[in-house]
Amino acid sequence: MFTWSPKYSVGFEEVDFQHQKFLKIADKVIECIGTGTDVSTVKTKTVELLEYAKWHFETEHFYMSQCPNHIFEDHKAQHEEIISKIEVFIQDIEKFDSDFGSELMIIVKKWFLSHILVTDKKLYNCISDEKFGHIIIKDKNL
Ligand SMILES: [Fe+2]
Ligand SMILES: [Fe+2]
Repeated sequence: MFTWSPKYSVGFEEVDFQHQKFLKIADKVIECIGTGTDVSTVKTKTVELLEYAKWHFETEHFYMSQCPNHIFEDHKAQHEEIISKIEVFIQDIEKFDSDFGSELMIIVKKWFLSHILVTDKKLYNCISDEKFGHIIIKDKNL
């Protein structure tokens, strides 16, 4: 289980919500793997995770475009790397044994969570809540 902790908060409700949702979907995938669910179901759930990651990164790209700062190429490159890690995981899903949940744990912990702690926090430090405080939490339809 991925446990949300206040240390992951970027201080921006819409984005914290999306980060938590990503972890919930990742949890579902890990749970399916742990209970021996068939590979095609695991694959479907992982594609859902991939689509959610893309949606979330689009949200961040929108905020980046509002921020008068040009340090975001590296941030976007990290998003592409996370997307590509999940895509490779999906491609290789048939090759893994029942322990391939640990592979996804690495992607989520080493890539997604550490990205929040360093890179996402930098982005949201640059955007004040006063500027976007009116935004209602929106979410991708799943
Ligand atoms: Fe990000
Ligand atoms: Fe993020």
